[in-house]
Amino acid sequence: MNVSAFGLIGLGVMGKSLSLNIAEKGFTLSVYNRTEGDEAHVVDDFINDTETFDSISGFKNMEDFIRSLESPRKILIMVKSGPPVDAVISQLKPLLDPGDIIIDGGNSYFKDTQERYEALKKEGFNFIGCGISGGEEGARTGPSLMPGGSAEAYSKVKTILEAIAAKDAQQQPCCTHIGSGAAGHFVKMIHNGIEYAEMQLLAELYALLRPFYNNQAISDLFSQWQQTRSGSFLLDISSKILITKEGNTYILDRILDKAGNKGTGSWSSETALDLGQPSTMMTSAVFSRYISALKEKRVDLRKRFNNQTESTQEPDLQSLEKAYYFARLINHYQGFELIKEAAKLYGWNINLAELARSWTRGCIIQSELMSKIAIWFQSGDDLIKNDTVFEHLKSNEPAVLDLIQNGLANRVPVDCFYQAYHFWIAITTENLSANLIQAQRDYFGAHLYQRNDTQNSKFYHTNWLDS
Ligand code: 6PG
Repeated sequence: MNVSAFGLIGLGVMGKSLSLNIAEKGFTLSVYNRTEGDEAHVVDDFINDTETFDSISGFKNMEDFIRSLESPRKILIMVKSGPPVDAVISQLKPLLDPGDIIIDGGNSYFKDTQERYEALKKEGFNFIGCGISGGEEGARTGPSLMPGGSAEAYSKVKTILEAIAAKDAQQQPCCTHIGSGAAGHFVKMIHNGIEYAEMQLLAELYALLRPFYNNQAISDLFSQWQQTRSGSFLLDISSKILITKEGNTYILDRILDKAGNKGTGSWSSETALDLGQPSTMMTSAVFSRYISALKEKRVDLRKRFNNQTESTQEPDLQSLEKAYYFARLINHYQGFELIKEAAKLYGWNINLAELARSWTRGCIIQSELMSKIAIWFQSGDDLIKNDTVFEHLKSNEPAVLDLIQNGLANRVPVDCFYQAYHFWIAITTENLSANLIQAQRDYFGAHLYQRNDTQNSKFYHTNWLDS
């Protein structure tokens, strides 16, 4: 029997697209899908549809699938995150040999990945949690890949992963070994946190513009911006979405304003809270989705307003672009800071310049800005201290204020922009009012405080009632 270089389990949308990508790059591939319920014909249908690639062999029996793989086996699992991943691993384990490599390509929670990595390591198996970004199209033509796990295991799958990944402007693969354990899935999670805020900023711009401009005009504005420093995958698709029609109607105007989510944004926000990091923009974006989901309540409460409030103040388009760039700088800064903190805590040696480079193509947050960030990180890992970044933020502060005031005047919620502005104001304020918080804590709970009139870092208590 011929042996395949690579195995893939799970022929969902992403699994199929990745399979075609792998085969197209010249690797022999075995694919497996379960046959329960309405999945009985998935493997046969896929093999029939992909006759052009005779390097793909389909399997409905797990033992045969495993036997078809060259040693050490390299198996990519593309199933729903959570219990299905554990179910597949349990099925695989009795059939594998020590040294075999399991790659989880789903959006798994990084703490699950860490547990799986450690448990499998004890049994002699390699486990790579690999973030994959780019959706169906990216998976087919070149995604951005974020593999974690041991460097040694990565070295055995590097050739295939790098071959199927997107290529950056210098034709380097958008795939780099992120770090040990769950580092790959961690950065994919934060990628999505950044993605949430990037999407929300665009939604807030659309909300500010739509009382004054039609879809075509907003789309035109976004495509103008696409040619500038603000260009990005998300801006580009938003510009296209705005003018896509179903008959004579814009589809966007027919889509219910309730945003869903699959959890990576809230995991990122929870992680920020756990690590004590002020990742305010991604968190704001998650909450905005949650508020949007309260559609019935919103409709009901709106009825209590007798007179309709009209948007009266037209936003200044130049300010909008400046504010957008400002907010995106803060969003990326917050996201990378969260990665830095986690890397310290978990002992991951993450190269931020290389990570940003691997996000310049293939992934959902690829952008002109990301290409700049990849370069800025080469001269220091604190983005906000970079002279260019700092000057941009400083000089565009009035534009963000203008945008927020416009939103408030027109009763348009723009919390993600507000969070960017607020963060910038607070992070550049020498004396915040947290001295009062400390005094209150010490007053009612004897929680102690540090003093600003000594050089030591000792903690003090005041008997407030006796003073
Ligand atoms: C990507 C996307 C992808 C998926 C998100 C959507 O990088 O390709 O992030 O992973 O689209 O999981 O997440 P929500 O359903 O939570 O918006």
